[in-house]
Amino acid sequence: MAPRIVVVGSCSTDLFVRAARIPAVGETVIGGTFHTSGGGKGANQAVAAARAGARVEFVGRVGADDFGRSVRAGLSGFGVGIAHLARDPQAPTGVAFIFVGGRGENSIAVASGANLRVGPGDVRRAQPLFRAGAILLLQLEIGLAAVRAAGALARRRGLQVILNPAPARPLPDALMRQVHLLTPNEHEAEALTGIRIAGAASAARAAARLRRRGVKTVIITLGPAGVFVSAPSVQGLFPGFRVRAVDTTGAGDVFNGALAAALAEGRELPAAVRFGQAAAALSVTRLGTQSSIPARTEIDRLLRRS
Ligand code: RIB
Repeated sequence: MAPRIVVVGSCSTDLFVRAARIPAVGETVIGGTFHTSGGGKGANQAVAAARAGARVEFVGRVGADDFGRSVRAGLSGFGVGIAHLARDPQAPTGVAFIFVGGRGENSIAVASGANLRVGPGDVRRAQPLFRAGAILLLQLEIGLAAVRAAGALARRRGLQVILNPAPARPLPDALMRQVHLLTPNEHEAEALTGIRIAGAASAARAAARLRRRGVKTVIITLGPAGVFVSAPSVQGLFPGFRVRAVDTTGAGDVFNGALAAALAEGRELPAAVRFGQAAAALSVTRLGTQSSIPARTEIDRLLRRS
């Protein structure tokens, strides 16, 4: 059976220290707790989609090292297909150092390693996964040439393309034209448009500017304020779920993965957005990235209660 979601993206090991506050430059903060989790925006989104019930295949690279072995085991333990997750002897597995402060806020430094060596050749080798009707889910933590090659192949084969433009970087027009659904957060939307996002009105202006570049649907995530959706059929702010945040790391990834899973099931956009928001809200109540991603039953329960 054809996979419903293909993720071409990054995977890493996340090393967390949760402390009373994030240290300033030159400062040492003691008394924290340590935690590790599978991470990388691509892998987080793949796991979120799989936990939400989708059939997911992951295309990427790890190094030939212990972190790589644990990333592979983690993804396959979550039910994500890893036949196209290559072992690269030339570079280490990606690692992220993450500080989480007392209000759940974070600060992240990434050593990309093998992720930056994901290229068009990896996409070519994964061609059999690109079948009409599936969804391609992309981010920007791998080489841009791979992102463009995946987008172009997906368009030729009739997949729906979702691009989460994180971390922010300028996007060529050719790539924008390959994307059906763009999901920046407010900072990425500002970086892409030059418009400072401070609520629904400015989000609407930024989304309109992005749609003029050829993207059909734009969803701007606004943290606890919710998400702004701009699509041919629906336009407006979807308020967030109210939860007590312990760690917001990866919440955007959970939103994207669960959104893609809901769309792959055939849900309409407003219901898929709500489903993604519920998954992301649950994830911020727990520490970690992949370790905080909720199961389908939890998402359904929260949606039933709200
Ligand atoms: O979006 C969160 C992710 O960003 C973390 O898992 C970390 O690996 C960084 O890539």
